[in-house]
Amino acid sequence: MSDEVEGQVRTEELDPEREARRQLALAQIRQYPDPVLRMEARPVEEFDDDLRRLVARMKDLMQEANGVGLAATQVGVLRRVFVFSPEEERVHALVNPSLELRGDEKETDDEGCLSIQGVTVPVERVTAVRLQGRDEDGKEVSYDLEGMAARIVQHEYDHLDGKLMLDRTSPEARREAMAALRPRLVLR
Ligand code: NI
Repeated sequence: MSDEVEGQVRTEELDPEREARRQLALAQIRQYPDPVLRMEARPVEEFDDDLRRLVARMKDLMQEANGVGLAATQVGVLRRVFVFSPEEERVHALVNPSLELRGDEKETDDEGCLSIQGVTVPVERVTAVRLQGRDEDGKEVSYDLEGMAARIVQHEYDHLDGKLMLDRTSPEARREAMAALRPRLVLR
């Protein structure tokens, strides 16, 4: 079975039952051009059961949809929360994250997004970041990340500010992506 990360999405062969579950998860994730994807999320003030339920739901949806990251914005909740999974076995939640870009080294690679299905675009990102914040229980967490993990959290952090990978790619790649998205918008 192949299992690679393409953009922000794990690609693998899925059996029909698993594929049906993936589609059910995707149906609960806001899709471009939903205007909520352009809005700025507000900080979380209370670390309560509502927050823990939200994080549990996001982890579940991300894994069911075969994603490697998901922001609360993408489930229509404008709070500064995202989950990410740098390796398949582990999912981390970040609440009220801060992101420090470290060094000048940058790399361009293709990204995808669970809210912009079927499209990948090249995005230049810095290769090393420090991510700090709290987990869903309010505990302080800090991660030094490189490579794919650094890319994932930059993408998810952008969602909290209403930014999309389409804003960070080349004008040419953006045009191509928009052309690919347009027919599906008509059919929806
Ligand atoms: Ni995304």
